[in-house]
Parts: sequence; C-alpha cells; structure tokens
Amino acid sequence: MTYIKHSWAEPYKIKMVELLQMTTAAQRKKALQAAGYNTFLLKSKEVYIDLLTDSGTSAMSDRQWAGIMMGDEAYAGSANFFRLEEVVREVYGYKYLIPTHQGRGAENILSKILIKKGDIIPGNMYFTTTRLHQELAGGKFEDIIIDEAHDPENEFSFKGNVDLNKLERIIKKYGAKRIPYISIATSVNMAGGQPISIKNLKELRALTKKHGIRIIHDMTRVAENAFFIQQREKGFNHTPIKEIVKQICSYTDGATMSAKKDALVNIGGFLAVNDWDVFEEARNLVVVYEGLHTYGGMAGRDMEAMAIGIGESVNDDHIRARVGQVIYLGNKMLSYHVPIVKPIGGHGVFVDAKKFLPHLTQDQYPAQTLAAEIYLDSGVRTMERGVVSAGRKANGENYYPKLELVRFTIPRRVYTQAHMDVIAESTARVYEKRKKINGLKMIYEPRYLRFFQARFEKL
Ligand code: F0G
Repeated sequence: MTYIKHSWAEPYKIKMVELLQMTTAAQRKKALQAAGYNTFLLKSKEVYIDLLTDSGTSAMSDRQWAGIMMGDEAYAGSANFFRLEEVVREVYGYKYLIPTHQGRGAENILSKILIKKGDIIPGNMYFTTTRLHQELAGGKFEDIIIDEAHDPENEFSFKGNVDLNKLERIIKKYGAKRIPYISIATSVNMAGGQPISIKNLKELRALTKKHGIRIIHDMTRVAENAFFIQQREKGFNHTPIKEIVKQICSYTDGATMSAKKDALVNIGGFLAVNDWDVFEEARNLVVVYEGLHTYGGMAGRDMEAMAIGIGESVNDDHIRARVGQVIYLGNKMLSYHVPIVKPIGGHGVFVDAKKFLPHLTQDQYPAQTLAAEIYLDSGVRTMERGVVSAGRKANGENYYPKLELVRFTIPRRVYTQAHMDVIAESTARVYEKRKKINGLKMIYEPRYLRFFQARFEKL
C-alpha cells in the first residue's frame, strides 16, 4: 500500500483578492537605492511579497468586515467599546480595559504610570518600542531571558522562558522596591517568536508574589505562544488554545496589547489591568495621549473588528494553520541549508545573518545587507532585527545584540503556500552567491528607533 500524506490546509477560502505589482531586477535596484538600502523606506507598490511585519497586515474575515459596518461612531460610550471590554474579560480575563491606537500607545501610558526615575524593569528580552518607553519614563531594562534564547542553534522548546536566577540576582542587587514590574512577552519577538512555558510562568508568579512585584504581559502574540504550549508542554496536548490563553493571562497582573498581530485587525491595541488604582490613572492619562477612555484613538468600527478578531484568534484550527504556514516556510529554508533560528518561531522565520554572511562584521550590518539582497533578488521585503534595530544606549554607545537576524514575518491569512515556495527559493538563490555580497555603511541615523528611517550606502 502506498503511503498517502495527510495534509492540513487553511480553514478558510478566498473571497476577494488584491492584485500585486511585479517588478524587474532593474526597477528593484533603483527602488532600493532610493530607499537608502532600508526596506522600511521602500514604497509598498515596489514590493511583491511583503514580509516586513505581521503587524496590521492580516486579512480580516467576512465577519470582521461585517463588524466594520456595525461601528457606533459616538464620541463617548460607543457600543463597540462595551463589546470589546466584554470580549477582553471573557477571552483574556483582565478586568479593566483602556483602548489605545496600538501597542505602543499602551506602553507609553503604562510606563508613565508605573515607572519612576532610576527604576529597573526586568524582561524576557527587549522589544524596541517597549524598552524605549521604559527608558523615556526614566527606567532601565534588564534582560532576564534564558541564555538559550541568544543562541540561534539551540533547539530548546521554550526559549522565551525567564531565567529565575538572573531575576533573583537583580532583585537582590536593586531591591524589589525599585522594580515596578517584570515585563513578560509571550512569543518573544526579538528571540525569533519563541514561547514561554506555563511551568515557567507559574514559577515566575510564585517568585514575584514573594517580593510583591507585578507582572505585565506583552500579549501581542499570546495565541501563537499558546499553540506551542499545546504542542510541546506536558499536560496541554488536549487543552484548547482558548483555555491556554486564559491560563497564561491569569499568571499576570495586566497587559499591553498590539491588536495588529494576534487579534487580526489592521489597527488597534489596549492596556488591560486588574488593579483599580492603575486603571484609574490610565483612564485619566489615555485622554491626554490617545482619546477618550471609550475609544482611545480607535473608531467604533475598529473596536468591533477587534472584538471579533480576538474570538477568531483563539480558534484551534486558525492557529494551527497560521503557525503551520510559518513552519512550512522554515522547513523549506532548512532544506536549502539556509541558517535560521531554531526552533522555527510562531510569526516568522528568522534567518541568521551572522552565519549567512560570516565575512561581514556587525558594523557592516549583515542583517540589513541581507534584507536588501533578498529584495533585489525577488521583490520579497523582510526586516532587519540586529544591530540597527538594537540602537544605542542612553550613553550613546551602540547595543551589539548577539542575534543578528533577518525576519521573514508572515501576515495572517494573506499569502499562499506557493508564495512560501517563492520566498524560500529566493533566499536559497541569495545564499548561493553569499560570498560575493558586500556590507553597508550607515549614512543617516535618526535619534529614536533608528531602524525605521536610517539610510545606508553599499561599501
Ligand atoms: N510588543 C511587541 C512584542 C511587538 O512586536 C510590537 C510591535 C509592539 C509591542 C508594539 O506594538 O506596533 O502596535 O505599537 N511590533 C511590530 C513588529 C511593529 O513588526 O514586530 P505597535
């Protein structure tokens, strides 16, 4: 008997398509030069397959689009806000909701409320906007992720875990009073979309309880993290994603959310907390920075689409197909011997630019260079996540992160398996000619979050 593979496929079909522009090599060369070798500065019409980010780039469902028509565009007390509040309570379990225009809006408000000058904020690896808001509020970030997370080759199942010894040392050194909260991301973005385990979260909860320290959850990709728990953690094999998500949230005291990722909308976010005092302060500050506390920078229709998207995001079939597509691409890259971060993450494939271009030093921006070369080859747009993204310390010195990566981020429900094949083949072609690739020189550097607008020249 022949063995017939049992494939899975997406739990949806396509109702509308967006036509893409195909470009020639000559057009791409011109476009890249005009963009200063920074993929953030390309026009989207110059891009064929856009893997810059999974943020705000998802395809909404027919039900979400129907929700858009149900927008209650009242300045105050919109019906969509109350529905969103109900969904956040039901799905995530957080008591109080402050809507914001996107994740960093929530980070700003939270940092302003909880952080005082000289405070320390330990976290399981930094994220660009999160750390910057902590620093702007006078705090200092300390990395407490396990060492395995900094090693692209290490195949540990939960590379998002916190090293509790590192945390204990920090508590001992600074004292719990100077630590307003621990910042915990699910599906750690900068580590390659790596999950934290329930076991680690429970231990972290026990330790922080002892010291009276809050845990604030960056829940941007919590459902993807839950999928890895279901696949890999003992005892969760038959637990629905929805239950795992709620359990994760239950070990934390509040959350910032960029709904542009997991929650399947093009714009939106929130801050959610269990503590009335923090809520009261946040409800006051949101009016200053975002908008009234019942819209926080979003239209009523956006809140409705988000409420529906949150429900869809914790569906088992959805999340299996979503992460499954990322894993398909990662395995295809591995079959071409392209060096990637292992295990394959939840929201994208992260190519190890240090290994890919070992002849370049970190000051020649290997990941920035590789992202540019991939665009030149095929019009696929990716993102640098290395020394450029890491930026500079408060004292002006460069951060030199161990990870020098190019992120191939997969938007949710947008591209097909054939697109994944094209992406992997393009990367393999660039890999074949890697020895001939020269690095870059930075010729313009903005002060904050430089990766967005920096410009480069070929060396
Ligand atoms: N936290 C994480 C883990 C993120 O990945 C992001 C955004 C934010 C917070 C900020 O949210 O963009 O809604 O203000 N990440 C995007 C990315 C930009 O491409 O990874 P935002």
